[in-house]
Amino acid sequence: QERILSSLPLAGVKVMVTAGPTYEPIDPVRFIGNHSSGKMGFAIADEFAGLGAEVTLISGPSAMQSVQRVNRIDVTTAAEMLEACQANFEVSKITVMSAAVADYTPAQVATQKIKKSDDDLKIELKKTIDILATLGKRKQEGQILVGFALETQNEEEHAKGKLVKKNLDLIVLNSLNDPGAGFQKDTNKISIFNRDFEKQVFNTKSKTEVAKDICKAILNLFKPL
Ligand code: CTP
Ligand code: CA
Repeated sequence: QERILSSLPLAGVKVMVTAGPTYEPIDPVRFIGNHSSGKMGFAIADEFAGLGAEVTLISGPSAMQSVQRVNRIDVTTAAEMLEACQANFEVSKITVMSAAVADYTPAQVATQKIKKSDDDLKIELKKTIDILATLGKRKQEGQILVGFALETQNEEEHAKGKLVKKNLDLIVLNSLNDPGAGFQKDTNKISIFNRDFEKQVFNTKSKTEVAKDICKAILNLFKPL
């Protein structure tokens, strides 16, 4: 417990964070992506590093800069992100998955640029592997796993469902309905649920401040009862 009392409460603790979108290639020039900027995940990685943790940040394509003391691994696709997460999970005491991972990827990637024809184009998509759920199954005693839920309806119900289904310790609900929340924005509005479904609601604030709230909620899990 003495670590928690020191000024760097996570000194030497290994933390893994995912951030950003994934890009799923259709052909050499096109991909399926999403609007995630990476801001939230990078802010979380920075905050953990500031608390003394040894942070590995696994990021999809993002214009964000990470702080020097963060060990950054750049990936492009959901499959690459899965591989990097699998390789780093076992040693991570705390894992926070804030990446917006593609749920579907093109079944085939064309080796040449697809030329337009007179017909419409259909692209077949196959499901990607759920990285968070995969890690949830691997989770050992003493490991903390935190996920995000991005919802536009029945938010709480869906978030709690994901918390249980993916074997998480906390889930951060990101509401896209709030004007201060969402992609590319510098602010966010979150709620956090724990395994007892206790809910902590936070005001709209900068993603840096939101990252502090998330880290604090995680540190609270280490508090003695
Ligand atoms: N996630 C993941 N791997 C995927 C899809 C999602 O690790 N292939 C993670 C995200 O990083 C996030 C959490 O799962 O922490 C929830 O993502 P979200 O898109 O909200 O939920 P899904 O389970 O994908 O369900 P849906 O998109 O249908 O709401
Ligand atoms: Ca999804």
